[in-house]
Amino acid sequence: MYGTVLYIDYNKNNIEIYNYLSSKNLDISSVSNCTEALRVIEEVIHDLIIISQDDNIDDLDKLQTLKRHHTTACIPIILISKNMRTNKNIKLNALRAGINDFMKIPIKYDELDLKLQNYFTIADVRRTVLADNAEMKRELSIKKSQIKSTMIDIKNAYSEVIIKLSAAAEYKDPESGNHIARVAHYSKCLAEHAGMDNKFQDQIFFAAPMHDIGKIGIPDRILLKQGPLSKDEWNIMKSHTEIGYAILKEPKDSTLAMSQDIALHHHERFDGSGYPYGLKDKNIPLSARIMAIADVYDALRSCRPYKKSLSHKDSHHIMMNGDDRLKPKHFDPELLNILDKKHKLFEEICEECSNEA
Ligand SMILES: [Fe+2]
Ligand SMILES: [Fe+2]
Repeated sequence: MYGTVLYIDYNKNNIEIYNYLSSKNLDISSVSNCTEALRVIEEVIHDLIIISQDDNIDDLDKLQTLKRHHTTACIPIILISKNMRTNKNIKLNALRAGINDFMKIPIKYDELDLKLQNYFTIADVRRTVLADNAEMKRELSIKKSQIKSTMIDIKNAYSEVIIKLSAAAEYKDPESGNHIARVAHYSKCLAEHAGMDNKFQDQIFFAAPMHDIGKIGIPDRILLKQGPLSKDEWNIMKSHTEIGYAILKEPKDSTLAMSQDIALHHHERFDGSGYPYGLKDKNIPLSARIMAIADVYDALRSCRPYKKSLSHKDSHHIMMNGDDRLKPKHFDPELLNILDKKHKLFEEICEECSNEA
């Protein structure tokens, strides 16, 4: 028989039980009250607690602490007492304290042997279950970190594919190299200050770079033409919105669905004067209203074959007050107000993303 016993001996002179337990080669810790017992069990979880007492003891309720804690609640406790029959309170107090089993003095040692065997069997099972649980927790934690790492890989691969796909459109577009990176940051910034949640902010960050994906379908003679476009050429150029929509057809993923909205509607204007459908106000998806501001601000800041780049100050002024082509009413006034309040952030993004080129 093997097991660990915490022996609480209130009778100090009652050495007989202790000697008997010792003769069984059990691992015994002996203390003289429940307070000491709690201290010992904090360090080593024993298989069984045996309490030997003659009279009512006043700190028995301390054992309830053990019954409240999941690692010690299952430890069986046997109370051995001489006066159990004459003092009913002993048994009632013991039951309240969570004691599981009782024995009377004088002890029947054959009965104690059987009880020990039974309780040590239960302790073995408990140890096995605890070991299995610990192993399962360890495996679960490994799996969790593997899943986390895979998710990061997928997210990185996803963003790389999107950036490469967007770059394909930019490849033959005269817009400057870091335009797609800048509009991603401006859009996320506007979404954040418009109070959109983290998911929306992440989605627009990945969706915004695909706004001009449809330019893949525009012939070079029109896309790269240095002079002004004829009416027919301009109509073909405008079709990049619908081509983009068609490229991103039937998206299964919510970020791609947002990029499809953006591709189709980023040239709509809040006053209804945009294309392809002349949508007005909030009939234009929020993502596309955000994109319109990001795209136009960046176009003002960028150098084109037909125009110089403007300073942040001039670009901000035109966005807020308009010029011969641009009017503030083209944009969602709430979003334009955010640009006005946070325009310094736009200036910082423009500088940082341009320096990366
Ligand atoms: Fe566009
Ligand atoms: Fe653009």
